[in-house]
Amino acid sequence: MYYPDELIEEIRAKNDIVDVISGYVRLQKKGSNHFGLCPFHNEKSPSFSVSQPKQMYYCFGCGAGGNVITFLMEYENYTFQEAVKVLADRAGIALPEMEYSEEMRKAESHRSRLLQINKEAATYFYYQLRQPQGQLGYEYLKERKLSEETMKHFGLGYANKYSDDLTKYLKAKGYSEGLIREAGLANADEKHGMYDKFWNRVMFPIQDINHRVIGFGGRVMGDAKPKYLNSPETPVFDKSRNLYGLNFARTSRKGNIILCEGYMDVIAMHQAGFTQAVASLGTAFTSGQANLLHRYTDAVLLCYDSDGAGVNAALRAISILREVGMTGKVMNLEPYKDPDEFIKNLGAEEFQKRIDAAENSFFFEIRILQKEFDLSDPEEKTKFHRAIAKKLCEFSEEVERENYIEAVASKYHIGFDNLRRLVQTYAAQTGLAKPVERPKSGVQKKNTPEEGIKRTQKLLLTWLVEQPQLYPKIKKYISPQDFTEELYVKVAEKLFADLEKGTVNPAAIISMFEDPQEQNEAAALFNTKLMEMETKQEKEKAFHDIVYAVKRNSYLYDSGRLGSDVAALQRVIEGKRQLEELGKAHISLD
Ligand code: GTP
Ligand code: MN
Repeated sequence: MYYPDELIEEIRAKNDIVDVISGYVRLQKKGSNHFGLCPFHNEKSPSFSVSQPKQMYYCFGCGAGGNVITFLMEYENYTFQEAVKVLADRAGIALPEMEYSEEMRKAESHRSRLLQINKEAATYFYYQLRQPQGQLGYEYLKERKLSEETMKHFGLGYANKYSDDLTKYLKAKGYSEGLIREAGLANADEKHGMYDKFWNRVMFPIQDINHRVIGFGGRVMGDAKPKYLNSPETPVFDKSRNLYGLNFARTSRKGNIILCEGYMDVIAMHQAGFTQAVASLGTAFTSGQANLLHRYTDAVLLCYDSDGAGVNAALRAISILREVGMTGKVMNLEPYKDPDEFIKNLGAEEFQKRIDAAENSFFFEIRILQKEFDLSDPEEKTKFHRAIAKKLCEFSEEVERENYIEAVASKYHIGFDNLRRLVQTYAAQTGLAKPVERPKSGVQKKNTPEEGIKRTQKLLLTWLVEQPQLYPKIKKYISPQDFTEELYVKVAEKLFADLEKGTVNPAAIISMFEDPQEQNEAAALFNTKLMEMETKQEKEKAFHDIVYAVKRNSYLYDSGRLGSDVAALQRVIEGKRQLEELGKAHISLD
């Protein structure tokens, strides 16, 4: 973290959360909370709440939540530092200048020169497209059904037929030959001297998420080769960490991002209203891009060409997404080749239907896999089942794996137990996944014991934040180590320390985390909905049950580790005593 914690806390405290969020969401006061329609998911009745006393927001519908910093990170897609900076400005707090070394300063100014020259070139191409000499390009784009507005939105341009005019133009503007070449806008050789990289092509400026031009793609207007010419990588153009269209897609709020292959595809989708479309930059999808996407969405829809190469690219993209913890879905565009052609022929409504019908990426993989086997031959069929089992081992999370085993078994008419056994065999052989334990009752979804115990821990933390006077009554039973998740322990440590001092400040606890997902999770700990309870007696019983359940879980956990963890024995003895005492104790809520 660049800034000291105290400064971040000062900035947070000086930006009232209700004030800030009111600038984005219409809020209505009800009791001590404000309510509105959640800006992070689609809903008709408000489940988005903002608490002035807690200085936090939380949505009971989608689980979005956090403090004022989280809100800006999520709504504006800012990084932690960017959000802090905006809020500091808003509150009139001066941030310390970041210390740059001489070297960093030089690199920074070099980068900004490159961005500047790119912008200059983009402006030049844009202008050319609208001149008589750009008519060919303009007609080509019109022919491809792009509206004037779309061309403008994407800053499309034209590199005309002369092969040195851009270089001349940039030189006249004072840019050095070295910089022009480094930006990838021109090449040089002995025979021709300097010559433009792009000529007689329609130009697609490639922008980073902050709308700065970092490179170009240029397309021939016809069938010549190469069809697309792309800028080389430069200090400002890292092809593995940027995506075409993400500068618009990141604020599209469609609940998903569509990943496709081509610039024209992105543009066609945006024009048809699918502003969540992005494409990789003439290279294969990378894990850097997957991580970038993960900042904005959990739901990626793959929309690759329907030919063999497209299927292979989709399969690779699926495993890259899986590496960063995302499961993609795959769209089927048959009988058309790509989204651009699909939309041109069938229109936006049909395209939406294909979005809705996108196939779970695991089933897509299995379906493709199946083509390699002749299922009428028993031997081949067995091989196919083995291959499925092997793929199922890629799910490291047990519940998820179990659910997939069940789904695949039923879809492909394989005996559930047989498939499970096969998976266990593979898992054991390769150490890919832990052998699965048999679930007690069929498929287990949300209500696993782990979810249950996490929920009680959340309830306890929420209760303590809302009624801090309860803390002295439970502190002899519960310590932060009684929480099972690493994040819960961290939060509890800070909260308990605050409660010791008699100052509860949940919003400050949230900015201990820089990652918005962790901030969401932390916010959830303070915003778990307590059941509506009528009588004081009911409430006391509920609270007692929660404290007891948290302690008991922690005790059972320690007991299970007696062999492997020396300190566990001490905790088990102590825990047993505390549990017995707690069992008899009455905790009054007053
Ligand atoms: P259109 O024919 O204009 O509709 O292109 P497309 O988007 O359908 O193109 P295609 O599926 O052939 O290619 C997808 C993407 O791959 C393009 O947007 C380019 O980024 C890249 N690409 C295509 N052809 C070439 C090429 O010849 N060279 C390079 N470097 N990249 C290419
Ligand atoms: Mn195409």
